[in-house]
Amino acid sequence: MSTPAATPTWRLVEPPRADRLDAPEAWAYHGVAALERAVGLADLGHDDLAPRAVDLLVGDRHQEHARTHRLAAVDGETSHGAPRVVGHGELVLPVSDNRHLAVVRIAVLPSHRGRGIGSAIADRLRRVALTECRTTVFAEVELAHEPPDGAPDALAPREGPGRVSADLPGMRFARRAGLGLEIVARRSVLDVPLPDDVVDEVVAGAAARAGDAYRLHTWQGPAPESWVEQVAALEHSLSEDEPNGGLALEPERWDGRRVRVEEAKRAERGMTLLVTAAEHVPTGTLAGMTILEWADDRPELTEQESTVVLAAHRGHRLGLLLKAVNLREHTRLRPAARRISTWNNETNAPMLAINVALGFRPAGGSAELQAPLADVVPLSRG
Ligand SMILES: CC(C)(COP(=O)(O)OP(=O)(O)OC[C@H]1O[C@@H](n2cnc3c(N)ncnc32)[C@H](O)[C@@H]1OP(=O)(O)O)[C@@H](O)C(=O)NCCC(=O)NCCS
Repeated sequence: MSTPAATPTWRLVEPPRADRLDAPEAWAYHGVAALERAVGLADLGHDDLAPRAVDLLVGDRHQEHARTHRLAAVDGETSHGAPRVVGHGELVLPVSDNRHLAVVRIAVLPSHRGRGIGSAIADRLRRVALTECRTTVFAEVELAHEPPDGAPDALAPREGPGRVSADLPGMRFARRAGLGLEIVARRSVLDVPLPDDVVDEVVAGAAARAGDAYRLHTWQGPAPESWVEQVAALEHSLSEDEPNGGLALEPERWDGRRVRVEEAKRAERGMTLLVTAAEHVPTGTLAGMTILEWADDRPELTEQESTVVLAAHRGHRLGLLLKAVNLREHTRLRPAARRISTWNNETNAPMLAINVALGFRPAGGSAELQAPLADVVPLSRG
């Protein structure tokens, strides 16, 4: 006689949205943040990538350019009497552009894996994406490190360098759902502060190559009103030019209003933004920019965000110059920071070369996965 399968103790819920973190209905933001910290520590050995509760709340509050759907798998209660989040799913649906995309994130506490929670979440999100008429699914699986050369389970992406272990739980899961590995993204970390003379030397060398045609501007927080439309143009150009392999991404639509929304979101998340931009003096237009950002409740960590130089201005060492000048200002403002982390597609050789020249070292990465939604297969058993 076969033993009947144990009745699951977990259930899937659509958690309420809250406007404040101290509201009782904000339990899912706290629960998902705690879950993501635990998943990061278990799978990657650090929680640098885990969203904080405030990041999730602000993401839900701002639906101007992307809508979010959340699911929580809950099992029992926390010591505060709130539902205990053991798994979560997030579906991001861009609305200003890329309206074909459904971007999925699923994570389950290591203690609760292998019980069908991830599969149940994936199937529910798949149905939402179908209802929303999306046609392409994106997902990422983060890696602590790439497998060594010649490892038997190493998977190669459809385009570009980099390898991913096929045996990671996230890779087994995503491939079973029908997603393919398009490209690998590298995470790199720079240990800071760099000695002043090292940065000064990089700045001097790059400035000599860039010449007098460019003038640098650095600001903290929102862009000066006179530059905001040009910052939008740079963001658009970044989305158009970044080498993304075969990922079905279309260029993003940016205007000054969208820049202001992104700045407001960062401010609401308690993030400080440090931007250095290069003005092309003869035309009075911005030729490029780079952004660093940080949260004060993560005193050791700074994120290197977008860096872009317009095609007409490449080849003058502006990318290196912008980054080095922003780094120098960052050291002045934030001497206690210990690491700056950044992401680059392995297909983006020019940006990787700049980061390596500045001293960034590989620190894991992510598998960038994609499939037509019509090809995604339901995973739940029975
Ligand atoms: C990927 C991840 C979400 C899977 O969550 P999960 O709840 O363990 O998923 P499931 O239980 O549905 O499936 C996992 C395994 O359990 C098996 N399984 C599914 N239902 C089961 C059940 N009822 N009983 C026993 N095993 C089951 C699956 O076949 C699968 O087996 P395999 O990995 O050996 O091929 C989880 O490992 C995770 O959080 N990883 C880190 C984040 C990540 O990489 N996310 C994926 C990209 S969005």
